[in-house]
Amino acid sequence: MMELGFFSLLYALWAALVALVVYGLHPIKRWRYRHLPGPPFRWLLGHLPEIVKEGQDSVQERWAEQYGSPFLMWVGALPVVVVSVPDQARKVLGRPTRQKFAWLHTGEEGKLDSYSIVFSRSLDLWKAARGAWQPFFSADSLAALVPTMKASAARLAAHLQPAAAAGKPVDIWRELGLMTMDVVGTTAFGVDFNTLERAAQQKEAEAGEATGAAEGTSERHVRTPADRLIWAVRTIFEFRALTSPIVALFVLCPEGEQAWRWLANALPTPGLRTELKARGELRAVGTELIEQQLALTAGGKGGSAAQGGNDGSSCVSAAAHARPAAIKPGSFLSLVLPSLSRQAGGDTLGPLWAVSQGINFILAGYETTANAIAYAVYLLAGNPDKEAKLLAEIDGWGRHKTLPSAADLPSALPYTAAVVREALRMYPPAAIAAREMADDVTLGDRAVPGGVPLQVSITAMHRSPRLWRDPQAFLPERFMPGTREAAEVTPGAYLPFGDGPRKCIGWRFALQEAALSLAALYQQYTFRLTPGQVPLKTKMVLTSGPADGVHVTVHRRE
Ligand code: HEM
Repeated sequence: MMELGFFSLLYALWAALVALVVYGLHPIKRWRYRHLPGPPFRWLLGHLPEIVKEGQDSVQERWAEQYGSPFLMWVGALPVVVVSVPDQARKVLGRPTRQKFAWLHTGEEGKLDSYSIVFSRSLDLWKAARGAWQPFFSADSLAALVPTMKASAARLAAHLQPAAAAGKPVDIWRELGLMTMDVVGTTAFGVDFNTLERAAQQKEAEAGEATGAAEGTSERHVRTPADRLIWAVRTIFEFRALTSPIVALFVLCPEGEQAWRWLANALPTPGLRTELKARGELRAVGTELIEQQLALTAGGKGGSAAQGGNDGSSCVSAAAHARPAAIKPGSFLSLVLPSLSRQAGGDTLGPLWAVSQGINFILAGYETTANAIAYAVYLLAGNPDKEAKLLAEIDGWGRHKTLPSAADLPSALPYTAAVVREALRMYPPAAIAAREMADDVTLGDRAVPGGVPLQVSITAMHRSPRLWRDPQAFLPERFMPGTREAAEVTPGAYLPFGDGPRKCIGWRFALQEAALSLAALYQQYTFRLTPGQVPLKTKMVLTSGPADGVHVTVHRRE
């Protein structure tokens, strides 16, 4: 009997080992994609070691040069087809179905993903969200946001004053992150984030609590909705998905998604626990704000002047004094709320759906834009001739004048806008645009079977010597109509915001904010890199950003 038990165990172990080896070899999948070029296949991990070491954007850039377009890579057990030439990118991005993201969460947290404009797997829910978002990005709406953007940039300029006076280096990327969070937070929830001042207060509070630094202590001093939202958004950005052991399971065996999700929630790692807490916080604050607003509207007081205008006056301060806070008229959520109760596929859009849109607004618009402006500052600091042209343009508008309105912006600051566009070419913050197609598709002369994730490597396209003359050179003139450099740009080779029906909905918002911020900063200062930062190291987590920040000294202009 003992012997039988021993042999059963041995056979079971043997079967498990064989299953692991066969699964790790993915024989069927490999057969389907055998005709696609790419780096040599590797058992079980696929190309994860290179992805983790070099970053998915950098490794795709390297392989695109080596293997051409399309090529095949393996993210664990997931085959991914990567393209990097304009006609193939257009074909891929013309489809509305985004590559499936693994949802880690269940219950209410999981619903936040299923309602997300970015992550939803339902085309009906995506269409409903896209329709609800669209009015916020109309020309009139963007023009109305100029005062908020200017106010945040002015706060940053004032905040840099002590560092300029003391000659003390700052990480301008971090500071810009506080500014862009100020803008998206304030415009999304209608809650005045005022992140720059809050960050300083939070630092002090954290220093006070440092002795009992158990997980989540930084929440203890958090009081206002804005504090809670800021903490939550930053925590989510700090969560390194790919290096989390649970996410590794999703990648190594995508077919086990349901089981991994159950495991992740039954036994969350400390990192995931913190991330979950942060998402819960976002959900709680968002729901509170929406419910207060709905109650006010039902009571006939919606949009009351007491909630503050778009001048940055705060409804958070109201919350801090325990008066009801609600959503500012003109904010993103105030425009999304009328969609509540509508049907999308089998779902009725409710408050949780609106919360998901608010959260996505912040997540999509905060770090991407901060990275873009930080890259522009880095590139200008290393290219004094281009910086001189920028300064001349800003001074031509008026150094001590208020910044241009939305209507004046294109004619007033075209070179500033070109600097932003060129920074986005050299360092695209959203480095990959991903789709999934049910049907087979021909890319170049290769047939690609349906169902495989397709990724457009924006980084590879933007830096390819086949598509750009001198791609390593910082030449904003490429984006100045009428110049020789502009005439040389290959049509379709520039895609910092993706393309097609799922092109970035916030692209005009981002370009407007970046140009206004650069103008506000360079009206007063120039920036010099501290030694050891060239070439800049980048790192891709959710977005592709500077790996260790962008450290500069701040110089007040005479
Ligand atoms: C410089 C800043 C930004 C960059 C580089 C950027 C880039 C991108 C890219 C590449 C995509 C994917 C497009 C595709 O798949 O074809 C995207 C999607 C998206 N972006 Fe942005 N983005 C930026 C700022 C913003 C801002 C400020 C917002 C909103 C406030 C925003 C909201 C979105 C949304 C909602 C989507 C998903 C659209 C959909 O799936 O329908 N982005 N962005």
